[in-house]
Amino acid sequence: MKKTLAILLTLMMMGSIAACQRREASPPAHSAMPTKVNPTVSEPDASKPAASESGHVLIAYFSLGRNAEYPEGTDASTSASLVLDDAEMVGTTEYVARLIQNMVGGDLYSIETVAPYPTDFDRVVDQNHEEMNAGTLPELKASNFDLAQYDTVFIGYPVWATNAPQAIFSFLSQYDFSGKTIVPFCTHDGYGAGGSYEDIAKAVDGERAVLEGLAVEAPGVTEAEDTVAGWLSDIGIDAQINDSDDAEGTAITISIGGVVLDGVLYDTALAREILGYLPLTISMVGFGGREYYGGVDFYPENVEGGRTTFSNGDITYCEAHHNMAIFYAQTDDPILSVEVIPIGKVTSDLAAFEELPNHVNVTFALAEES
Ligand SMILES: Cc1cc2nc3c(=O)[nH]c(=O)nc-3n(C[C@H](O)[C@H](O)[C@H](O)COP(=O)(O)O)c2cc1C
Repeated sequence: MKKTLAILLTLMMMGSIAACQRREASPPAHSAMPTKVNPTVSEPDASKPAASESGHVLIAYFSLGRNAEYPEGTDASTSASLVLDDAEMVGTTEYVARLIQNMVGGDLYSIETVAPYPTDFDRVVDQNHEEMNAGTLPELKASNFDLAQYDTVFIGYPVWATNAPQAIFSFLSQYDFSGKTIVPFCTHDGYGAGGSYEDIAKAVDGERAVLEGLAVEAPGVTEAEDTVAGWLSDIGIDAQINDSDDAEGTAITISIGGVVLDGVLYDTALAREILGYLPLTISMVGFGGREYYGGVDFYPENVEGGRTTFSNGDITYCEAHHNMAIFYAQTDDPILSVEVIPIGKVTSDLAAFEELPNHVNVTFALAEES
């Protein structure tokens, strides 16, 4: 009943302040983001480099979950707007942002306002209406990235009152998008992207192109992988699905004690270079319940495409620490302190890593040789 009233009230308010076709859905109260990351850190995660024609990619998104202070313990069962991504609860827009990153690479950036939004849905609706009416551009937390290094900028947001939240327009007003390709995407509760694509196109300055956007209905985000991949392909951005079953490259084995796992090394310059060192045995140590890493005694030349997040199964090279790692589990701390470059993937079940001692010798070998 409360929700229905919220919809009705919202629609009535919208009618008086906005164009007649504007509609607003009635999501339940948004809930917690139990694990928070530093909003100003860019968070790359794909297992493959960005598609070359897209250049260096930034995926900037606004999600209510990272912009409201929820009570401890709120989870997906109390908010339809949160979904489970590996072991972590994330907002629906962030989930789509991560899907995109997994497919095209690039850096994730969470757009966050200095003043958090209320946790009560009706109050967020009211505040958003006030901000829209007044044309307020809420102040954003300082960012730490250099937009100049990006060629393609994805802009993600939940649809609020049939448009993008004002924080998106704050973000767009802060940067010079000259020569950049802008790609909007959004999540919503059934009413679509509204006027957001048009208003975003109006708000950016000097861009090379604004590509066709994608609107994903919130309850469907966890099933949206094919939709996202199809959209990326339609707009000419190569999607390389980061799924271990589909991982392509040179087949390898990863032997740890008596366990032999399957994997691939990708067809990238760095992975090809490291392929030349196989068979390769590395003394690895477990860290953080998420990875095994160990130093290597070669210095690869092709060290581009670093990122500070990982997917389960990633085999990575880290230039800063001069080591290789295998990531096997997401934790509450998904952001790495240094960049790693994905060079391959373990395609076998990762459960074996949960049973390993802390120090292990890991041998990477060509599958045909082992
Ligand atoms: C203030 C507010 C206004 C909203 N307005 C709309 C709307 O106009 N149309 C719609 O389909 N969904 C609307 N929604 C629902 C959100 O777009 C949807 O739940 C979205 O997936 C939430 O994404 P997030 O979890 O990343 O914040 C609104 C939600 C809020 C909080």
